[in-house]
Amino acid sequence: MPFFNPYRRSYISDPYPSLHRLRDEASVFRSPEFQAWIVTTHDDCADVLRDHQRFSSSPLDSEGEVATQLQKQSDQVSTGEARALVRMDPPEHTRVRQSLNRAFTPRAVAGLRPFIERTVGELLDRAERGQPFELMAGLTEPLPVAVVMEMMRVPAEDRGRLTEWATAIQRGRVDTERDPEMLAAAQAGQEELTEYFTDALNDPGSLHPEGLLAALPQAEALTPAERIKTALDVAMGGNNSTAFMLGNGVLALIAHKDQAEELRSHPELLPGAVDEMLRFDSPNQIIMRFATADTTLGGKDVATGDAIFLLVGAANRDPAQFPSPDRFDVRRENPHRHLSFGRGPHYCMGMPLLREQANAAIKGVLERFDELRFGGGGLVRGGTLSFRGPKRLSIAGPA
Ligand code: HEM
Repeated sequence: MPFFNPYRRSYISDPYPSLHRLRDEASVFRSPEFQAWIVTTHDDCADVLRDHQRFSSSPLDSEGEVATQLQKQSDQVSTGEARALVRMDPPEHTRVRQSLNRAFTPRAVAGLRPFIERTVGELLDRAERGQPFELMAGLTEPLPVAVVMEMMRVPAEDRGRLTEWATAIQRGRVDTERDPEMLAAAQAGQEELTEYFTDALNDPGSLHPEGLLAALPQAEALTPAERIKTALDVAMGGNNSTAFMLGNGVLALIAHKDQAEELRSHPELLPGAVDEMLRFDSPNQIIMRFATADTTLGGKDVATGDAIFLLVGAANRDPAQFPSPDRFDVRRENPHRHLSFGRGPHYCMGMPLLREQANAAIKGVLERFDELRFGGGGLVRGGTLSFRGPKRLSIAGPA
């Protein structure tokens, strides 16, 4: 029986040998510890993600430890009955998702490019010659928060406090040590942000007409609680993933100097390299689903309500999909087939926004740091069961 233990130290530092072993032993198996089915091949994971009728995103009607935990997490936000978009199923999901489409069109996102490039420049300007630079606190955490506030056109005078709340939430979410102070700050940030969005959405005249928030009061398909929850989803939804994606990407470049050089000499490879970074070391390692009926998956009998963990990290290194999967190769032909953004109806809405940020940030880092290597503070891993990335990553300062 394959044994899945993502809390082992060796797994946290490098899960990929274990993930290969699990996939070799069984593409689908039941973990008694997690009371969940573990799915490790690219094909099986993609099939489950596409099939929302057999596999629900909502844990509410299922049993088991994991489902209860998940339900508790989504209840942390005091917005009445509203559920997070990622935990809904069609047709409810389609109705809420449509209200956000306008904000994430490629055109709307491309309009943010000058802001993103300027913000990356300003953050990297703080790196001092010859001094180690803390990449997470200095670049990867503040960038997505600044970008999402710009997307929402939050008034300039409110951005300072919103940044504080969003950063507290962001850090609390992925703090493995469960530091009580950090968790209390995250909870307080969550409450403040909820109150802020509640007030803003109750006074539509105060909202910038081009901001994402302005569309929400008019979204008649949404209940008032759903509008607030949606504002929170968008404000916080992608921040941890973006920060970890950039951290993991820079780690891959530090570990593969030849690939960093290749990218420096051929900047046109950058968009594909961003996908390769997402494939090679995904910030999102587990996507969950719940069986809606008795069914089979990978030849195993799955019962109604059973929890299913799709191991994205295993799917992204499946040799049936990616030849030599453990090689980090900025010229790989099909890196975009990774499952880091999911698949099917819940496919990540922030994907174009992430691409803009990653292109600007990785380009900025390669331009400013002529030799990428660890600085004095080295690497401290953060993350949770489903998120993987650095908590702190110190790189040697520019020459
Ligand atoms: C590296 C960065 C990111 C990664 C790896 C990522 C990953 C994902 C994944 C895996 C899902 C689907 C979850 C599921 O199927 O259950 C998702 C959904 C979503 N993401 Fe992202 N995300 C990233 C960045 C962002 C950003 C920057 C935003 C927006 C500001 C964002 C907004 C969303 C939203 C709104 C959904 C819900 C879509 C739905 O349920 O229909 N994401 N993301």
